[in-house]
Amino acid sequence: MTSRFLKACRQEPVDATPIWFMRQAGRYMPEYRTLRKRYSLLDICRAPELATEVTLQPIRRLEVDAAILFSDLLLPLEPMGLPFDFIKGEGPQIERPIESPADIDALRDFEPQVALAHVLEAIRLIKQELADRVPLIGFTGAPFTLASYAIEGGHSNNFARTKSLMYGHPKAWHRLCDRLADMAGAYLSAQIDAGVDAVQLFDSWVGALSATDYREFVMPHTQRIFQTVAGRVPTLHFGTGTSAILGEQREAGGDVIGVDWRIPLDAAWDRIGRDRAVQGNLDPTLLLGPPNRMLSQADDILARVANQAGHIFNLGHGILPSTPVEHVQILAKHVHAASLRP
Ligand code: CP3
Repeated sequence: MTSRFLKACRQEPVDATPIWFMRQAGRYMPEYRTLRKRYSLLDICRAPELATEVTLQPIRRLEVDAAILFSDLLLPLEPMGLPFDFIKGEGPQIERPIESPADIDALRDFEPQVALAHVLEAIRLIKQELADRVPLIGFTGAPFTLASYAIEGGHSNNFARTKSLMYGHPKAWHRLCDRLADMAGAYLSAQIDAGVDAVQLFDSWVGALSATDYREFVMPHTQRIFQTVAGRVPTLHFGTGTSAILGEQREAGGDVIGVDWRIPLDAAWDRIGRDRAVQGNLDPTLLLGPPNRMLSQADDILARVANQAGHIFNLGHGILPSTPVEHVQILAKHVHAASLRP
């Protein structure tokens, strides 16, 4: 499959800069909201036909260079013994969060081919429907970010419970991350077997850690996940608030390192090293408007990269629900036109 996105992951020359968006399917799209009137988020994630439909919605609407599997980061928690639900207006809620080392030892192992068979079936359906128009990105959550939901029970601002367990019970913390890394390696491998063309590891909240803590508590586990899938498909490593740990993340792995808007992309690329590809880094709130500011900031990012091979355009985090669809359309078109190679 020849694709701008896959070429950029491998730092090969491209005709124009590839672009896709985290949360490119979601509440900002009227066709998604229509489907959500009849089905919950988990209904959609568990029905391969619905997950396929939602994955394809942005492909029909936007000039994007990749599709991302529609699913959720938290799905593997349930078969590990941590059931959860999404509460309207509040986000995810784990029924009985991890409180002690004993809770960690009670977690279960599972086979993704059995417990998450519906996700793998969705991948096969999506690949058929896409017919190689654009590649499909699979994903899973990284140990720190998944552990934070399992321990906090939902979203957190300071990760106080997570860090207390990490500092207070380091051995139990490493056992938890070992289990999560086993899961992530097996789940990503199963997604690759089912047909995804690239995989992204989401460590959305790992920017809460210092470089020293990242090295001690996270890096060995993340490294093991990337080693498990090495050489099979391109890998992307994503986080937010990570300006101070980009070098450590690079060491942990990933052919492509995600960068958010808090650091200029060229400075980030220097820290990561020019022998890796980068993905980013427009602030998602710029898509709320006005469009001229969004576009001038997109031009600034493109100018900093100067068409060097190995840049994938994306936002620093997901599209916000109140984003006008037209702004997303304008941005995707603009990035292609403005980065067209002579
Ligand atoms: O288009 C895509 O990016 C693919 C789909 C996708 C979803 N979740 C669907 C979803 C992906 C890649 C995710 C990953 C995910 N899920 C992450 C990591 C990425 C990130 O944003 O940092 C995290 C932290 C989660 C957990 C989660 N799921 C949260 C915190 C929420 C927000 C709750 C809220 O009300 O905003 C969700 C819900 C969720 N997952 C939505 C979507 C489209 C919201 C839409 C809905 O309620 O219908």
